[in-house]
Amino acid sequence: MLIKPGDVQKVGNLFIDTVHEEEIRVINELYDALVKKDIDKADKLMDEMLVDLEDHFTTEEELMREFEFFAYPMHKAEHDQMRKRFKEVYDKWKKEKNPDEVIRFLKEEFVVWLKSHVARWDRTTAEQLGD
Ligand SMILES: [Fe+2]
Ligand SMILES: [Fe+2]
Repeated sequence: MLIKPGDVQKVGNLFIDTVHEEEIRVINELYDALVKKDIDKADKLMDEMLVDLEDHFTTEEELMREFEFFAYPMHKAEHDQMRKRFKEVYDKWKKEKNPDEVIRFLKEEFVVWLKSHVARWDRTTAEQLGD
């Protein structure tokens, strides 16, 4: 397990908290498969994470547009950066299937990014939207 429940704060909006729970589940399963060097399972979970990340970001962006959230462009820009970065990691995985590279990305980049992104952007967004 890479992310423990409580590592990523709840933001108080049901839709956003639900996509985060799902994201954390996929990340933990992916991390476990990578550590065990279960390449087939990790490969399926990389596909799942690509879909899941898009679902996570799109859910928040649709909510922001619906409520005309003033900081939409800034919040979306952070999503776009991570979309791009994860796609790079994903494409490299598809070529090389190197678990250590993805483990490094998850630990050193993704988890750090997720915690701070949720604390700054998702929380502020949820405060504007309510529950
Ligand atoms: Fe989020
Ligand atoms: Fe977000």
